[in-house]
Amino acid sequence: MKKVRIRGVGHYAPERVVTNEYLATIVDTNDEWIQTRTGIQSRRFVAPDQTTSDMAAEAARMAMKQAGIQPDDIDLVVVGTSSPDMLYPSTACVVCDKLQLKSPTAFDLQAGCSGFVYGLTTATQFLRTGLKKNALVIGADAISRFIDFSDRTTCVLFGDAAGAMLLSSTEEGSDQVLCSIDGTDGSGGKYLSMPAGGAQKPASIYTLQNHEHSVHMNGKEIFKFAVRISIYMIENMLQQTGLTIDDIDHFVFHQANVRIIDAAVNRMGFSKEKVIYTLHEYGNTSSASIPFTLSLANQNGTIKENDIVLMVVFGAGLTYAGSIVRW
Ligand code: UT7
Repeated sequence: MKKVRIRGVGHYAPERVVTNEYLATIVDTNDEWIQTRTGIQSRRFVAPDQTTSDMAAEAARMAMKQAGIQPDDIDLVVVGTSSPDMLYPSTACVVCDKLQLKSPTAFDLQAGCSGFVYGLTTATQFLRTGLKKNALVIGADAISRFIDFSDRTTCVLFGDAAGAMLLSSTEEGSDQVLCSIDGTDGSGGKYLSMPAGGAQKPASIYTLQNHEHSVHMNGKEIFKFAVRISIYMIENMLQQTGLTIDDIDHFVFHQANVRIIDAAVNRMGFSKEKVIYTLHEYGNTSSASIPFTLSLANQNGTIKENDIVLMVVFGAGLTYAGSIVRW
């Protein structure tokens, strides 16, 4: 088997900052509720002329530049997203066009917020077998386009962003992806869904009137699942690798709710100082949450070469995924 190297990371967030105070002017909510229940203070929304593939391409450009890899050398593109530009072509194909990539294998991976980490594990297999040499794995979501702004239980949670990682297959050195875990509890699909717009319920005047083209969520059920599955994934990955909590330099949780992260951290009994948070400023950016946080932390020097980074995420499906990497 060949080794997988992380060559570069990138991120992008749109310019428009949307504060809790602003949301309180359009729906019955307030800054105090949002901050105490979620930790979120603000988020970013795409501009009217921007879409998911634009953010994905920006994050990818940054990762390619950092890696020093040219467009012609990318032979795999995986985009984790649940807010594709359109049903088809896939957002990955649109990104190939925007970046002028030669002829890579390109596909979207729909695993809710877990899309990026599912994509990381998928790309890793292509690289280890040597089938592909340079993979762009992107997590990008413009969930603001699918929010019902009359539903205060969901509209305060999400923000738009993208994050990317460029991975290469090599013969030398050690593999930087130390382990992974992923899975699905399909019985929980009903707790987080967008009911209409697919083959089961195509768009109609009724689906529009019933607000069925937006995020529908049972927050309490997702919360319970999230805490339980995050702890399970951490314990499983530590067991797989023989590492201990003390060996982990940084924990990157899905940036959904500070209370979910803190509940898992408190139950496992480790220091919050090792946890990297971006949700206060950017909200829940869905598939972008993990790669966006990794890239930002890399840029500001929080994550350094050789650090051991553990990431866990959960999402619609209900899916879950985790990985431990050496930076
Ligand atoms: O990527 C995965 C995406 N999803 C998640 O990660 C969601 C996970 N779940 C959560 O983060 C939390 O469950 C929420 C933040 C969504 C909700 O927090 P909660 O502590 O579970 O609140 P709740 O649903 O029990 O609601 C408590 C009260 C309710 O009022 P009543 O019935 O007690 O009078 C809600 O109607 O808070 C009310 N409420 C709000 N009030 C002000 C719900 N949303 C809001 C709001 N502003 N935005």
